[in-house]
Amino acid sequence: MKLKFILLFCFSLFFLQPTQASTVPAPEWGPTGHRTVGKIADTYLKGSTKRAIQKLLKRHSLAFVSTYGDEIKSDDRYRKFGTWHYVNMEANQSYEDSEKNPKGDAVTGAEYCVQVLKDKNASDEDKAFYLKLLIHIIGDIHQPMHAGLAEDKGGNDIKVKWMGKSTNLHRVWDSDMINGFDMSYTELADNADALSKAQIKVIEAGTITDWVNETHTLANTVYKDVKTGDDLGYKYAYENLTLARSQLQKGGIRLAKLLNDIF
Ligand code: ADE
Ligand code: ZN
Ligand code: ZN
Repeated sequence: MKLKFILLFCFSLFFLQPTQASTVPAPEWGPTGHRTVGKIADTYLKGSTKRAIQKLLKRHSLAFVSTYGDEIKSDDRYRKFGTWHYVNMEANQSYEDSEKNPKGDAVTGAEYCVQVLKDKNASDEDKAFYLKLLIHIIGDIHQPMHAGLAEDKGGNDIKVKWMGKSTNLHRVWDSDMINGFDMSYTELADNADALSKAQIKVIEAGTITDWVNETHTLANTVYKDVKTGDDLGYKYAYENLTLARSQLQKGGIRLAKLLNDIF
């Protein structure tokens, strides 16, 4: 009898696992993506910005606090920040023309963070909280599927396989592809492409809204290359990892630009 229960338990675990992995909405760039953005941003901060940030973050690094936005997601007290990680737009629509989420989105969320950080009357505690959120959100808005379509929840509903294992298109971009590359966030940051001053200037230009519009354009091309049921793997990584790495680098450069302007 006991053996029968154990067998039944193992049997149901076997079938439950892949279904759960593909139905729970994927979170954000995984930890490696967010930390890479933080570590790259670090290298572009001015000395005075660094000192102001170190004081607020109690000497924790940008990489260390970059995942905070995800960590608070399971805490009901922070529920209202749940929609601040992404934007949804119709294909080829601009953020300005899109229907806005009444609960807020990554653009309104990031702009709110900037406002608190610039507010002379805000407490250091509030500033630290919104600084950590800003570091996270600027990472998120560079993940193409964080500026995707509402109808498939930014690719969460596009079920695919990664190296034969059930996942979805959103998760492939958050973590499957980057984790498959098997580099640490420090290695990814250290191996970011060399850029000229002129190239950095081009990346730094624009507003948070412009950056989201650019990410949305990339989302449109990501959608075009994949259909439900595809088994993605080495070929997909070969063709898309360059874009993922470039997005992490842009996220880091733009995060540093925002912080240098604020502090
Ligand atoms: N995460 C959860 N819902 C999402 C959506 N609609 N778009 C992007 N990411 C999401
Ligand atoms: Zn995500
Ligand atoms: Zn997020």
